[in-house]
Amino acid sequence: VRGGAEETTTGLLRLRRLESEGKLRCPVIAVNESRTERTFNDRYGTGQSALDGILRATNLLLAGRTLVLIGYGATGKGIAQRARGAGAHVVVCEVDPLRALEARMDGYEVMPARDAAERGDLFVTVTGSRAVLRKEHFERMKDGAVLANAGHFDVEIDLGELAELSAGVRQVLPLVEQYALADGRRLNLLAQGRVVNLAAGEGHPAAVMDMSFANLALAVEHLTLHGDELEHRVIDVPKRLDEEIARLKLESLGVRIDELTADQLEYLSSWGAG
Ligand SMILES: NC(=O)c1ccc[n+]([C@@H]2O[C@H](COP(=O)([O-])OP(=O)(O)OC[C@H]3O[C@@H](n4cnc5c(N)ncnc54)[C@H](O)[C@@H]3O)[C@@H](O)[C@H]2O)c1
Repeated sequence: VRGGAEETTTGLLRLRRLESEGKLRCPVIAVNESRTERTFNDRYGTGQSALDGILRATNLLLAGRTLVLIGYGATGKGIAQRARGAGAHVVVCEVDPLRALEARMDGYEVMPARDAAERGDLFVTVTGSRAVLRKEHFERMKDGAVLANAGHFDVEIDLGELAELSAGVRQVLPLVEQYALADGRRLNLLAQGRVVNLAAGEGHPAAVMDMSFANLALAVEHLTLHGDELEHRVIDVPKRLDEEIARLKLESLGVRIDELTADQLEYLSSWGAG
């Protein structure tokens, strides 16, 4: 094995842990963090496909509804943007103060999940962590609230605690299980808490996966050519590959852009001029 190319957030978390313990035995290129992956796959790919999965499973009208988004990372931002575009009122819950501030300044309401629990018609988790929706939240949710996970496996919504609180479960639509709580409220869980854009939709459109696969293919080529010179660490996708992918994508869309003039290049690379 000469190296690896990792495309997921969670995969990189684990690889970085291996690296910090000195157990990573080959270089790994962090494809997930290249600009052509992060911005387009996460923001536009997941942003659209997560909502698509939710709508296919429920046929819910987003306009006028309150969507509580838990996790305002690269992926969450896409979901928030698309949901707002469809007329939903978006409430963001975060643990990172910078991300929370960004959400607030992007124009969303920000509050702890405990408070948002009472407000939401639809909850979407996208944190990479576990049990971000749990008993203390289920207990406060409105009758008919819909729960979906677009983040990590099926661990973001605590299904054990949801089952404990419930008197019964009924399949109301092919991908919707309705949990009847002891006090009569009903909570609708989509796709058994699994990643909703994959379980209830078709995943990311090919038109963003092309850039992800280009990143993977070029990362593998880079490892083949330069693997021996690289440290056994998690490393960035070389900037020139990222830019090349964006250039090719623009070309395929028939979009042309400007280039810096020689004068601008000189100005930007000097320190003498004001
Ligand atoms: N459905 C898909 O196709 C798809 C696509 C990309 C990423 N993902 C998954 O989505 C998850 C998030 O990915 P990302 O790239 O956006 O990660 P990210 O690290 O950029 O963002 C996650 C955000 O969640 C926040 N967060 C963590 N725990 C929280 C908690 N308990 N309450 C509130 N906020 C919390 C973090 O502060 C962070 O801002 C990962 O598991 C990733 O693998 C899924």
